[in-house]
Amino acid sequence: MTAQRRALAPPEVETHVELHSYLRAEEERSLADDVLDGLTRPFKELPPKHLYDAHGSALFDAICEQPEYYPTRTETAILHERGDEIAAATGAVELVELGAGSVDAKTRALLGALAHAGTLRRYVPVDVSETTVRASAQELVAEHPGLEVHGIVGDIERHLDHLPEPTGPRVLAFLGGTVGNFLPGARRRFLRDLAGRMDPDDHLLLGTDLVKDPAVLEAAYNDAAGVTAAFNRNVLTVMNRELRADFDVDAFEHVAFFDRDREWVDLRLRALTRQCVNVRALDLAIDFRAREEMRTEISTKFTRERLEGDLAAAGLHLAHWLTDPDDLYAVSLARPR
Ligand code: SAH
Ligand code: AVI
Repeated sequence: MTAQRRALAPPEVETHVELHSYLRAEEERSLADDVLDGLTRPFKELPPKHLYDAHGSALFDAICEQPEYYPTRTETAILHERGDEIAAATGAVELVELGAGSVDAKTRALLGALAHAGTLRRYVPVDVSETTVRASAQELVAEHPGLEVHGIVGDIERHLDHLPEPTGPRVLAFLGGTVGNFLPGARRRFLRDLAGRMDPDDHLLLGTDLVKDPAVLEAAYNDAAGVTAAFNRNVLTVMNRELRADFDVDAFEHVAFFDRDREWVDLRLRALTRQCVNVRALDLAIDFRAREEMRTEISTKFTRERLEGDLAAAGLHLAHWLTDPDDLYAVSLARPR
């Protein structure tokens, strides 16, 4: 499947904002291929990027507000406290944010620290969600007069060729613990690919959730208000809309548990009864046994050792390890070896 550059309508080259999309409308984040591959296997599985249509992105933002979901507020506190240190260590003129999501306190803390250091020139958000890239571009240009924003609507596993030519040292930020949503092989591949694109004066700023008491982890993915459950089940609505499938959303329950051997939270949807689902756009019938589960996401929890191993395999060296007082979460800065 070839990635094509498509100008967003209306044409978006204003004073300081450029938006480029590399997701063809009909390709829809390659959902059809992933459903065909992932839901015809003995163990059904879908890549998590399909959770983030406009509604899914809004539900993720709501997850971040839940009392049980500590990663966002913990990472935000680290970036607030250590933003100036990150700016000084990197001397970055550009913040490239992978899987950027909505403009949040974390992006603001980093941009604020770079602006305060007097180096900030450009912000490059990359996300599969067009609505979030568009909104962040507009909000940030208003907040930082003179800031260039080069937004990319694309898949970080396929479209990093389209990052703009660097204008100086960059911080490549991958926050929120999203690197933990890759399976181990894909994570290694992604980090190696990213490292291969870094100049010697670039830094990777990586947010990773840490291994901890399973009860705390499981609560974070089973919030009492049911927001994570709604986020998870939304992928069924995405398939119904995009592929004319007939999933009965109420016939699946949200499951999230910590796998102690693999050290990841496993998110699944469990069929309550035996059922057959038709995916009309693919002319595909999918059978589910009663209580059969399909995996929709994993969320890997890290130790410093595991992260150092991953970084070393990618040719990166861990330079700074920033954590909160309770060691819930880590933000690390790494650079090419
Ligand atoms: N960085 C934000 C958002 C994290 S949610 C934070 O720290 O809170 C994960 C984000 O990554 C979502 O906005 C989702 O749309 C995006 N995303 C997931 N998979 C992606 C992929 N393969 N390519 C690009 N963006 C992706
Ligand atoms: C984006 N990502 C790091 C979140 C996580 O915690 O793995 C996604 C999420 N899924 C359920 N809750 C949050």
